This record gives sequence, structure tokens and C-alpha cells, in this order.
Amino acid sequence: MLPAPTTRLRFREMTPADLDDMADLLGDPQVMEFYPATKSRDDAARWIAWNQDNYAAHGFGLWIIETHAGQFVGDCGLTWQDVNGVPMLEVGYHVRATFHGQGFATEAAAACRDFARAALDAAELVAIIHPDNIASERVAQKIGMTRRADDHGGAIAVRTVMGMTL
Ligand SMILES: CC(C)(COP(=O)(O)OP(=O)(O)OC[C@H]1O[C@@H](n2cnc3c(N)ncnc32)[C@H](O)[C@@H]1OP(=O)(O)O)[C@@H](O)C(=O)NCCC(=O)NCCS
Repeated sequence: MLPAPTTRLRFREMTPADLDDMADLLGDPQVMEFYPATKSRDDAARWIAWNQDNYAAHGFGLWIIETHAGQFVGDCGLTWQDVNGVPMLEVGYHVRATFHGQGFATEAAAACRDFARAALDAAELVAIIHPDNIASERVAQKIGMTRRADDHGGAIAVRTVMGMTL
């Protein structure tokens, strides 16, 4: 199952055929500004494999988001993440730098929120965000999240946990 298409975007599972686009996305210093480092082509291949494992295990993961004409926009979707030792359902999003600021992440994240509400048995949805990543925090706010806690478990010392009841 996939989130419903939105006005401008559709979702599909990522496959190894997406490696060029995913390596460009995750290798872009602007997109990875708030991550410990950019990702290599091998990292991007592992990212795709991780999501394919998630589709098989859970029925969801990060999906490719593309325009209705098939133009690659980025990825967005749902994963289980450890927040201070507790597994939590997270919505995540990465948008190609050339498409930033056009509302694509908000549109995709809202569709994932609605998918989680309709199809999954989860009480809460979170977004785990670097404290300086204002654009990401804004997307979380715009889909209805508020600041919940700090996460101390990841590679980044403290991350903001935004969340909402589903
Ligand atoms: C976070 C990200 C996905 C947002 O994608 P996007 O499609 O540009 O997001 P939207 O256009 O839907 O909304 C962005 C919001 O952030 C705001 N914003 C963007 N940069 C900002 C900044 N530096 N300071 C304040 N607000 C900012 C925009 O104005 C917009 O809010 P508004 O509608 O109230 O004006 C994109 O910046 C990205 O891919 N970043 C790199 C990957 C990443 O950090 N992902 C999140 C990991 S937690």
C-alpha cells in the first residue's frame, strides 16, 4: 500500500533503478546539511536496500516522491525510529534542492500522516529533527506536530522530537 497521490505528487516504492537519483539527493551537501555527512553512492544503495527491507517487513518505508509526469522530487515516508529507547513511527522527507520552498515536503508529509491514520495501528507520529533545521521543523508544524521532547540517542547529540497523536 502507498499514500494516496496528492495534487502534485505521487508515491512509489524505491528500487535499485533509483540509485542515480538517490545518490544525487543524499550526496548533496545542501540536502545533507543537518546530517553528520553526505552519503556516498554505496550508502545510497544501502538506503534503498534498507527501505526495500522495510516495505517487506512493515508494508511501509521511505517512498520515492515524484511529479505526476514522473520527475524525481525526493523521498518521503514512514519508518520506525528509536527515540530514547522507545520505538516510534517517524515521518521523514528529503527534497531535491532545486525544488525546495515549493511546499512539496509538506504535501508529501501530510499524505504520509493521512496514510498512517488510515492504514496503521499507531497512536503517535513523530519527526526527529536537528535543532537548527528550521525548514524541517516548519514542515512538521504544518502537518500538525508540536514540540514533544529531545532525543539523546542518535549520532547528533540532541535532536528535537516533534509529534502528534494520530
Ligand atoms: C526539510 C525539507 C524537506 C523541506 O522541503 P520543502 O519542500 O522545501 O518544504 P516546504 O516547502 O513544504 O516547507 C518548508 C517550510 O520551511 C520554511 N523554511 C525553509 N527554510 C527556512 C529557513 N532557513 N528558516 C525558516 N523557515 C524556513 C519555508 O518557508 C516553509 O514554511 P512556510 O510555508 O511557512 O513558509 C527540505 O529543506 C530538505 O530536503 N532538507 C534537507 C533534508 C532534511 O533536512 N530533511 C529533514 C530531516 S529531519
